[in-house]
Amino acid sequence: MLKRHFASGNLLRILSLLGDSHLGPCRRIIRIRHHHHRRNFSHFSSSSTTTSSTKPADSPPRSKSDARGELRSWQIHAYSGIDDLQASTSRIPPIKSPTDVLIRVHASSINPIDIAMTRGYGADTLNLLRGLCSSEQSKGPFGLQSLKQLSLPFRRGATTIEFPLTLGRDFSGVIVQMGHEARGKHGLRVGDEVFGVVGVQRQGAHATYVISSIDTIRQKPKNMSFLEAAAIPYVGLTTWAAIRVTGAFSNLNGKRFLVLGGSGGVGTFAVQYLKSQGTHVVTTCSSEAEALMTSLGCDFVIDYKMQEFSEMVKHYSPYDCVLDLSGPTNYKKSLETIQYLKAVTGQYITLSPPFLSNMDKFGFLGGAAKNVGDLLNSNYQSWNKGQSVTKWAFFIPNGAPLENFTDLLQSKRIRPVIQESFKFDETKDAYKRVDDGHLRGKIMLDMEDYVNSN
Ligand SMILES: NC(=O)c1ccc[n+]([C@@H]2O[C@H](COP(=O)([O-])OP(=O)(O)OC[C@H]3O[C@@H](n4cnc5c(N)ncnc54)[C@H](OP(=O)(O)O)[C@@H]3O)[C@@H](O)[C@H]2O)c1
Repeated sequence: MLKRHFASGNLLRILSLLGDSHLGPCRRIIRIRHHHHRRNFSHFSSSSTTTSSTKPADSPPRSKSDARGELRSWQIHAYSGIDDLQASTSRIPPIKSPTDVLIRVHASSINPIDIAMTRGYGADTLNLLRGLCSSEQSKGPFGLQSLKQLSLPFRRGATTIEFPLTLGRDFSGVIVQMGHEARGKHGLRVGDEVFGVVGVQRQGAHATYVISSIDTIRQKPKNMSFLEAAAIPYVGLTTWAAIRVTGAFSNLNGKRFLVLGGSGGVGTFAVQYLKSQGTHVVTTCSSEAEALMTSLGCDFVIDYKMQEFSEMVKHYSPYDCVLDLSGPTNYKKSLETIQYLKAVTGQYITLSPPFLSNMDKFGFLGGAAKNVGDLLNSNYQSWNKGQSVTKWAFFIPNGAPLENFTDLLQSKRIRPVIQESFKFDETKDAYKRVDDGHLRGKIMLDMEDYVNSN
């Protein structure tokens, strides 16, 4: 029964929602740092990783660097935080699935999940997902390895298949090779400029090349630079997942949203997306972010540090939805806003559920049980306070909404908000910047130096 359930791919689909669980001439670039153009790439030493080419690619690599098969990436070798990030050079990995594509990365972004993953966030669950995915890919009898993994005590270090691990969930770049089933899908060909995401169980995009599924990329919006385009996919698809999938809002026109924490990477996209759909948006942020949030179209901006915070939130209520992007440390305070939701139909949707941290702490079965308990408990509270519903939302790697975003980006109804951009050599500084918090939009990695030098 369990095996049948797995074979159907249901567990894969559920797990792939986790953590997997981030214009035009633009664009609000608040501050872009300009750095010396370093060409010695001194961070990158050769690693012992070797790979051999496999079948399904439809054309040989094209640039000199491609021909050499060199992949430069930032990787962790243990879950000991940002300091463990190391630059390495290895062979470009082969495409293993016929629906995969190899992309030369021009730009990528850094998200809080990258920082959390350097510390082991979700490691056990993601390892299970990696194991399940490799079982599926090999098309061997599915179940034995996975069931064995499931029955193992879910302890950190029980599996080590993830290292060295490259982080980075979204990117923009150029298609270099395609698996045979990927060719022509979604109108994409070798040489096309694309943007998209890579599933959280895969090697990430903080590298000069990334392998992604054809189904999680689309043509890059024509009016955007690579840097601007790479600021959209992860936060956009997270927003889509929270509002359209978890919230199941089909028509947002005239709805009232309270967005807690609108000033960060997800928030600066989410409020613009909601406004583009005719939604009434009230957001909370620090006082110094108020001007930015107003410029993004918010109807009312509330400083979350002000004394009258609750009265202000109440003043603009009732809301159809509270979208909580303010992070896990504010969860308890954020939950208080459920009393200002519309009764019965109101929804509190958080992007910081304890799902993966419960799995980390209590193992697969214990964590699953704790998750059910936590979700029931928060729903009990929200039902008591306002007869509303509490839901947990996760990033979903799905290319289709990117087409919708492209329309909005090309018509300039949404613009990327980039706080700061770092060169690829400065990746560690970029991670530190995200870890420092208080972000106003996105922190980006600009890899053009590497593209142009090869
Ligand atoms: N479940 C998922 O799949 C998923 C996917 C993406 C993101 N997330 C989570 O969603 C959250 C938002 O992501 P992000 O990328 O937008 O993070 P971010 O870029 O770090 O932004 C967080 C923003 O919230 C503000 N903030 C902090 N405390 C606040 C409070 N009490 N009230 C209002 N605003 C507050 C911060 O600025 P100040 O500190 O200066 O106020 C910052 O602008 C993060 O916790 C992230 O981990 C989850």
